[in-house]
Amino acid sequence: MSASGPGKTPQHIAIIMDGNGRWAKARGLPRLEGHRRGVETVRTVVDSARQLGVRYLTLYAFSAENWKRPAEEVSGLMGLLDFFLKRELDNLIKQQVRLHTIGRTDQLPANVQRELARVKEATRHFTQWNLVLALNYGAQTEAADAARAYAEAVQAGRENPAEASWERFRRYFYTAELPEPDLLIRTSGELRLSNFLMLQLAYAELVFTPTLWPDFGHADLVAAVEDYARRERRYGATTEQIKAGAR
Ligand code: IPE
Ligand code: IPE
Ligand code: MG
Repeated sequence: MSASGPGKTPQHIAIIMDGNGRWAKARGLPRLEGHRRGVETVRTVVDSARQLGVRYLTLYAFSAENWKRPAEEVSGLMGLLDFFLKRELDNLIKQQVRLHTIGRTDQLPANVQRELARVKEATRHFTQWNLVLALNYGAQTEAADAARAYAEAVQAGRENPAEASWERFRRYFYTAELPEPDLLIRTSGELRLSNFLMLQLAYAELVFTPTLWPDFGHADLVAAVEDYARRERRYGATTEQIKAGAR
C-alpha cells in the first residue's frame, strides 16, 4: 500500500467514467454523441493527471456487463475505442505514457485488439506515467480468472495453499503489475462500484461527483485530488499512531 496521507498526491487514481448517455439525452442527442464527448474528456484527464503528478490512471471504459447494451451502442463504443487508440498514440508517446489494459481483451473485436497491441508495444518502455484501460473488465470475472490461474499454480507445485495471502494471490489478478488505487472517482452521481476493482479498492478513498463525464475537466480532477489530500488514511490504525509514524 502506498504511504499517501494528508497533503499527498495520489499515486494511482481510478475513475468510473459515467454519465455519457445522460449528457446526450439532456441535449436531445444520440447516446453515442455522449460517448464521443467522453473520449475528449479522456484526453483532458490523461493530461491533467500527468500534470498533477499522478503516475497511474485507470479508466473504466467498458465493463463485462456493457455487452448487454444495444448492439449499435456496443459497436459504436468499439469504433470510438479504435479511433481513440489511433489518435492518441502520438500524444502518449510524446507524453511518455505507457498503455496497459485490464479485462478480457481477447473477447474484443480483432481490430481493437490489434490497435491495443500496437499502442502497448510502442509505449512499453515508459515507466513513469501509466494509463490503464479497463476493457471488458469485471471484478468477479477477474477473481474467477485469478482463482483458475492460482489453482493451476498449485497443481504445478508453484504455490502452496497453506501460504495463501492477498500478497500472493494478487499476483494472479490483471492488476498484478500495478499499485492499488489510492483514489476512486465516479462521475454522474451514481453511488456504486458496478463490478470495478473490488479488492484493489479495499483502502481507496472514494469521491463521487454529480458531474457527468463529458463535463468533467481539469478543475474537477484538481478538486477530487484536494479532497483526497484532506483525508486521513488509517488502514485500521488510530490517528495517534498515524501522526507518530509521520513524524
Ligand atoms: C459511461 O456512460 C460510459 C460507458 C459505460 C461505456 P454511460 O453510457 O453509462 O452513461 P449513462 O449512465 O447512461 O448516463
Ligand atoms: C460502469 O458504468 C461501467 C463503465 C463506466 C465503463 P455503467 O453505466 O455500465 O454502470 P451501471 O450499469 O449504471 O451500474
Ligand atoms: Mg452509466
